[in-house]
Amino acid sequence: MYDTIFKSATTVVDGEVVVRDVGVTSGRIEKIGTMEKESARREVPCEGRLLMPGAIDMHAHLREPGGTHKEDISSGTAAAVAAGVTTVLDMPNTNPPTTTVSALREKTAIAGRTAHCRIGFFMALTARNVDQLEQAASIPGFAGVKVYLGSTTGNILLTDVDPLETALARVPALFAFHAELESVLQRHKDDVALPDARSHHVLRPPEAVTEGTRLVLEHASRPGLRLHLCHVSTAGELEVLDDTPTASEVTCEVTPHHLRFTHEDAARLDNRIKVNPPVQGKADRKALRAALADGRIQAVATDHAPHTLEEKNRPYPSAPSGVPGLDIMVPWVLRLVQEGKLTIQRAFEVLCSNPARIAGMDDRGRIEEGLDADLALWDLDSTWKVERSDINSRCGWSPFEGDTLAARPLGVWVQGERRV
Ligand code: DOR
Ligand code: ZN
Ligand code: ZN
Repeated sequence: MYDTIFKSATTVVDGEVVVRDVGVTSGRIEKIGTMEKESARREVPCEGRLLMPGAIDMHAHLREPGGTHKEDISSGTAAAVAAGVTTVLDMPNTNPPTTTVSALREKTAIAGRTAHCRIGFFMALTARNVDQLEQAASIPGFAGVKVYLGSTTGNILLTDVDPLETALARVPALFAFHAELESVLQRHKDDVALPDARSHHVLRPPEAVTEGTRLVLEHASRPGLRLHLCHVSTAGELEVLDDTPTASEVTCEVTPHHLRFTHEDAARLDNRIKVNPPVQGKADRKALRAALADGRIQAVATDHAPHTLEEKNRPYPSAPSGVPGLDIMVPWVLRLVQEGKLTIQRAFEVLCSNPARIAGMDDRGRIEEGLDADLALWDLDSTWKVERSDINSRCGWSPFEGDTLAARPLGVWVQGERRV
């Protein structure tokens, strides 16, 4: 007797698109096959529908503590689940920032009470907290170390590479980089006399991320290290990654907004598309899409960075950078599948199995017997035109308003329990 049988679902097993029944018991996928006689407490008819693992967003800013007027762990994870994301990794630029074991424990305690899906927490590397990171590495809920090579929202900047070298040597963890390099940002900060959203990409030019990526790769000479480049945004970074041999495992992610927008969209969206790193030109966007399809980019992650419209409507210099993305990530990628621009298998990889592997979560991310039953059921024949009123994130808006995406999921299960 299973708890749930998902009947005749289209899914991906071992890299093949197949139609299978999936039996779930005690929060795990127990059996994948054809179930004629087996019984279950509940049956979910899935004919003609796509059963996908819950997506894993390895990069989100849930703003708790300190910024809960724009999001908190409860509202952010609720938005995630409604859009087919069942694991979120939260970033440390909160207030206070997550730089100590006690700050990490505060977040895991809040999450234990309020999270609607599974969650892990990055901690930031500072010049003085390597010992804290070492302790944190064995605490449940710790996701990895975030390194900010350039200043952005939250100001946890690392300008000296010594702490990085020490941390890489001592902390057995995934290291994720915001690779805009501060020295390049400083060099260009006065390049525009009267900057506005349309010139944001000039003040933070592609060189900032290509130089930062080069610096990261200088540290990728040892096997056993896991280095991850957040939000690649330019063709130049992809070239640096292609051209640099590394002994360490090096991975990267791309966001929906860098795949969708260019700096030309700032004419329409103004500060609503002010984001770090900036959206760049059409050639960059094209290169990102190609690299996502051919595997040079391993993961899609939101960099969900909610700010209120009131904050975004401030004059350019004081408007915060960042765009929300949890509401739209999976529907956006599945829209590429609908349009024939990405295979179903590739969508499963970039949203589920690759982020699970990169972040070391071997209990989820694939439709496979023995793995946790984090699942979402999709109807690939239907679409969704994004309206502001659809946005569940507390910030209450999206730069994707007006876009047509794949419709949101018909059902979502976290460790076997139905949440949507
Ligand atoms: O645009 C950004 N917003 N880039 C970041 O690195 C941080 C983020 C935020 O937290 O708002
Ligand atoms: Zn970043
Ligand atoms: Zn971020």
